[in-house]
Amino acid sequence: MRIDIITVLPELLKSPFEASILKRAIEKGLVEVHFHNLRDYSIGNYKQVDDYQFGGGAGMVLMIEPIDKCISKLKEERDYDEVIYMTPDGSTLNQGVANEISLKKNLIILCGHYKGVDQRVRDLFVTREISIGDYVLSGGELAAAVLCDSIIRLLPGVLNDETSALTDTFQDNLLAPPVYTRPSNYKGTEVPDILLTGDFPKIEKWREEQAMERTTKLRPDLLE
Ligand code: ADE
Repeated sequence: MRIDIITVLPELLKSPFEASILKRAIEKGLVEVHFHNLRDYSIGNYKQVDDYQFGGGAGMVLMIEPIDKCISKLKEERDYDEVIYMTPDGSTLNQGVANEISLKKNLIILCGHYKGVDQRVRDLFVTREISIGDYVLSGGELAAAVLCDSIIRLLPGVLNDETSALTDTFQDNLLAPPVYTRPSNYKGTEVPDILLTGDFPKIEKWREEQAMERTTKLRPDLLE
């Protein structure tokens, strides 16, 4: 997979890719992530990428021309499956969306800023609009990092234990069961006996029951 991220603030976005699982995925060559600073495609002497909105109103709008220049250059080099725009009015990211996007090959992710992008960018270039939740961030960068993390960890070979993404919360529309590690008795609180029996079919059944119980209690909406 290859991900090209277009942003006015690459420095806000880079660190999640320089640590832990994402870093390892990049080092293993399982994903390439490229950052494109929109200012490198700016117009005029002032390196302009945004302007006041027509009709008046507070807040700047990212202009179409630098975005067009950047996207067009990328598209000359390869085909893209999706041009994703991070925006609070997009459809909400969930595990199903992450699973689907993780199967794609080449992605462009565009981060909005200020009041967002000129509507014509969305009309002409964007194939999909994604929000990470019903709240407003200062820009799309942190949302793009969340999206990338959710898809990159699903790529084959990224997680050490290949089955572990399959048993994540949400992977079957259920919350994950509780997990425990040593010590089995900590200041009098004990690990459920069943987990120490070594009876794996029974343990699996217990986990399924726990997952169902937790979901019923904490997120009944997932069962609807
Ligand atoms: N940009 C600003 N807020 C956002 C959100 N909630 N999701 C995605 N992109 C955003």
